[in-house]
Amino acid sequence: MKNLNNEFQEVFGTAKEPSQFFAPGRINLIGEHTDYNGGHVFPAAISFGTYALGSKRNDLKFRFYSMNFAETGIIECDLKDLRYKEKHDWANYPKGMIKYIMESGFPITRGADILYYGDIPNGAGLSSSASIEMATGVLLENLFDLEIDRIQMITLGQKVENDYIGVNSGIMDQFAIGMGKLDHAILLNCQTLKYEYAPIKLDNHAILIINTNKQRTLAGSKYNERRTQCEHALRDLKTELAIDSLGVLTSEQFEQHKHLIQDEINRKRARHAVTENVRTVVALKKLQAGDLGAFGKLMNESHQSLKYDYDVTGVELDTIVEAAWDVEGVLGARMTGAGFGGCAIAIVEKDKIENVKQHVNTTYRNTVGYDATFYTAAISDGAKQMTEGVL
Ligand code: GLA
Repeated sequence: MKNLNNEFQEVFGTAKEPSQFFAPGRINLIGEHTDYNGGHVFPAAISFGTYALGSKRNDLKFRFYSMNFAETGIIECDLKDLRYKEKHDWANYPKGMIKYIMESGFPITRGADILYYGDIPNGAGLSSSASIEMATGVLLENLFDLEIDRIQMITLGQKVENDYIGVNSGIMDQFAIGMGKLDHAILLNCQTLKYEYAPIKLDNHAILIINTNKQRTLAGSKYNERRTQCEHALRDLKTELAIDSLGVLTSEQFEQHKHLIQDEINRKRARHAVTENVRTVVALKKLQAGDLGAFGKLMNESHQSLKYDYDVTGVELDTIVEAAWDVEGVLGARMTGAGFGGCAIAIVEKDKIENVKQHVNTTYRNTVGYDATFYTAAISDGAKQMTEGVL
């Protein structure tokens, strides 16, 4: 943190001591593409994230600098003009947060200098953008003495994605990052926003995160298309069913009524949304009962459903996940996040981690021609201020 402080002072040419904040990234254990379908998700905040250091200015200028994009230099804007600008690149995320916090009636009356440093690999599907949004949210809240309800801050982060950036994403990422708790995952009902924390006790297992190193951006992916396909499926089901979302259906109800969905592809998309939601609720129970083996099997089924019914995995994620399944000591593996590249996760016996890395990477390199990257992350707290450089 001392280095970040020095960097802040150097970049902005000031002797001020900035306040320090951290927002994690997230993994999702199970419950994929269910959030915008009114279903359940089961994510956890991780120890990789975004550090944001900031101090108020005496004028109306905001200056942003990211050590991850040092070549871009300082990006500047005025409090009076917070419109989205292509050339502002990554700084559109903090700009969007400032805009929507102000529009919600919180007084931001002056500008600020903000430095960011993130250790979440970019485009890895670990929610680096939601992490920047939430780091900015807690920073603004603190610098300007605003008391923003955490759930409201989370929904403002989602609004930045949806309305400011133009990605129709659900609430999962900002929620996991805003509400994360050390050593706990969060079962969230995305329709009601009711949630419960579940301790993650893995005993002699660890969560291995495996990056395909195939970058993807949601805006350029088929994400919005999947969402529309589910909306069409719901619209067809509503001709006979009084439902608001796919998330309220049991698998049996879906089987009985799926003929209402006109388009065969939309029917598959909806089947994923329904079965994945059911799996997620069961997964929590298995975890609570200490049945990690059953939890792992549900992860595997989740991946199959995302591959065959939802079609968001691709050769990179499939190669990694299927190679992981082959190794003794792997309880379960699946893609995590939106898909189309990004990361997979696996629950692995601690003393088998090296075997998994070796087998997965060799298979991966032989199939796609480059290496995967492996991380073990701790499950950590949500976005917060740091005191004296300590999380
Ligand atoms: C992305 C979105 C989330 C969620 C996942 C898929 O991470 O931002 O809202 O839809 O994809 O589960």
